[in-house]
Amino acid sequence: MTETLTIRRPDDWHLHLRDGAMLEAVLPYTARQFARAIVMPNLSPPVTTVEAAKAYRDRIMAALPEDADFTPLMTAYLTDDIDPDEIARGHGEGVFTAAKLYPANATTNSAHGVTDVANLTAVFERMQDIGMVLCIHGEVTSGDVDIFDREAVFIERTLEPLVRDFPALKIVLEHITTTEAAQFVADSPDTVAATITPQHIRINRNALFAGGLRPHAYCLPVAKREHHRVAVRKAAVSGLPKFFLGTDSAPHDKSAKESDCGCAGIFNAPFALESYLGVFEEEGALDRFEAFASEHGPRFYGLPLNKGSVTLERAATDVPETLPAGEESLVPFHAGETLRWHLL
Ligand code: NCD
Ligand code: ZN
Repeated sequence: MTETLTIRRPDDWHLHLRDGAMLEAVLPYTARQFARAIVMPNLSPPVTTVEAAKAYRDRIMAALPEDADFTPLMTAYLTDDIDPDEIARGHGEGVFTAAKLYPANATTNSAHGVTDVANLTAVFERMQDIGMVLCIHGEVTSGDVDIFDREAVFIERTLEPLVRDFPALKIVLEHITTTEAAQFVADSPDTVAATITPQHIRINRNALFAGGLRPHAYCLPVAKREHHRVAVRKAAVSGLPKFFLGTDSAPHDKSAKESDCGCAGIFNAPFALESYLGVFEEEGALDRFEAFASEHGPRFYGLPLNKGSVTLERAATDVPETLPAGEESLVPFHAGETLRWHLL
């Protein structure tokens, strides 16, 4: 039996770091585990310019613990009227690694998001030309589509045509939650990949209602039926280079989660590697964990693999009920549980 597992240093290809006191509270958890992370731009106001991204990157660097070796990879928040030149300039200057498409009002701080992808034709053409990655929150937002169907309907209505119309555009379908998404990505050309979160391979939608309303199990896209969880798990451990690690760690103050209108987002950064690794172990796929965590992402993004390594040992990790964040506190994913692996 393996007692320790050493892998090349991993990256997180989907992360919310927030700003100010929250940034300071959550960043060390990520920097402890990951060498790089794709930092989502849904601040308020969103990061839509090269200058804003540079300033945000500076704030992240200033908030890093002294001994940390971590590089934030910045993203541009796409709006209906964003200038393709700004996106391309940011990419050329090494500021924007990717651009993020939020359908308007799909999730936290997405009010400025895109109302119709037709408005972005010039942006997608430019991104395709320069080889810049498009990250997509893949959910439709219309009130007549059931919330559990929004990802599958997005794939049919928006993603399929997009992949067809921009055959060289590199697309990451973020935080996939369904059989349909896993299948679509697996069947698509190599230009299409997906990130997978810990929660979507750990919980199904029952977790939202286990003995009462469970705000800390609520994120977007919302967890789906069990057969979807199983399909996304299979994708994660498949060894296919299209699937890679992206936590979508999305911290909100405990009080903002436990409210009559609780925020969407699961704060999984503190024990992300332990959480993923437990799944790979259960699936008999420990030998595929390194590729998922440390190789598929950089290869898709066209970035070098990290140097150095991290080691996890088979030992209990007790997850606290809460963690401090400035004046407030955060409830981590797996709060109160014991995980089977421990990051050294
Ligand atoms: C994210 C957040 O809080 O910023 N929330 C979430 O549930 N995942 C936004 C997002 O990625 O949808
Ligand atoms: Zn996210």
